[in-house]
Amino acid sequence: MTGESEKSWILMATARSPTNIAVIKYWGKRDEELILPVNDSISVTLDPDHLSATTTVAVSPSFEQDRMWLNGKEISLSGGRYQNCLREIRKRARDVEDEKKGIRIQKDDWNNLHVHIASYNNFPTAAGLASSAAGFACLVFALAKLMNVKEEYGELSSIARQGSGSACRSIYGGFVKWAMGNNPDGSDSIAIQLAEETHWNDLFIVIAVVSSKQKETSSTSGMRESVQTSALLKYRAETVVPSRVLKIEEAIRDHDFASFARITCADSNQFHAICLDTTPPIFYMNDTSHRIISLVERWNQSEGTLQVAYTFDAGPNAVMIAPNRQAAALLLQRLLFYFPPPQDTDLTSYILGDKSILQEAGLQSVEGIEALAPPPESKDKVPRKKFAGDISYFICTRIGSGPKLLADENQALIDPVNGLPK
Ligand code: DP6
Repeated sequence: MTGESEKSWILMATARSPTNIAVIKYWGKRDEELILPVNDSISVTLDPDHLSATTTVAVSPSFEQDRMWLNGKEISLSGGRYQNCLREIRKRARDVEDEKKGIRIQKDDWNNLHVHIASYNNFPTAAGLASSAAGFACLVFALAKLMNVKEEYGELSSIARQGSGSACRSIYGGFVKWAMGNNPDGSDSIAIQLAEETHWNDLFIVIAVVSSKQKETSSTSGMRESVQTSALLKYRAETVVPSRVLKIEEAIRDHDFASFARITCADSNQFHAICLDTTPPIFYMNDTSHRIISLVERWNQSEGTLQVAYTFDAGPNAVMIAPNRQAAALLLQRLLFYFPPPQDTDLTSYILGDKSILQEAGLQSVEGIEALAPPPESKDKVPRKKFAGDISYFICTRIGSGPKLLADENQALIDPVNGLPK
């Protein structure tokens, strides 16, 4: 290892990785340590402009230990999941040379060098929006760039998987499948891209971040309890998912929204049924989640074809997928009729992400929302009660691309002089 003045150099890499939402859920492990699932899962990657993690990794002979800061706060790297990711990436590190800075690191040097990691989410971590998926995918991707690891995305996905299962799917953009694999060592439990984000770019996504004070069961412990106690989980993994996976792959290939939406809703509902089938039962959805499902189901039923799909992860937030912007505008009119912004909340902090959809929905102001007529399908069937305050905010977004290296050093989260978070 050489550098201009042995102790002073710092080498860095910064990357940005998206989060993803599963349309066929991963729920249950057959191996807890390696994070191997009991079934395949399929996800769509969300636009990193609205939901992503940015991570800078830095290496220097002056660093005394591996350290990490998440959203500005130092966190411990002693957990097995971080250690597994760091070890697996270090194993694959290769020679690195930065001629401009006069730095040469040889393959074997990596075992003696420490890293500093700073990561930041562009959405609230507490919102329960798969921040660990974006975070671990980004950590692995950035480390791989820094350490000049061969660009084998399948292999990177299997390393990210050891940080958090769903993270393996965030290594790609577009539509992604995590193949459960068969090998006991997990070498074939990797993510593959089914289609790029441009394949079906009419789709529009609306996320309702539901207000909740309830402390939720983590996915990790929730799925452990389901594996131990739910008979439905075994039936789902062995019988239901294999045929659903084939059908939804076909729907994605053919842009068949009706089939895509039907399977997505059914799979979300079955995942939550397994949670109820767990002892003691786990409740991730709340009354607001159920209200959103009813609203969408009523609308779908009155039109006779599926207008939008919904899916819920291990929390009350709803992710709704519309076939195009027109349908998304009609969806927003319905959502904002029932869930208007609380008083004194301005629209720009209530609708985040791609706000241009508001124009299409004719909802540029709070007055516009107040003037909304009840959705036609609600007529005489349900009381038109409103639930201001039950949703914290909406995020309007679309399908997005996979991890990217950010070449501009100004975007780094670590100070290139002292090696600490900026
Ligand atoms: C409901 O990937 O968070 O979001 O592997 O234990 O870290 P660990 O779990 P995690 O579980 C995600 C569960 C889910 C469904 C999904 O994303 O497929």
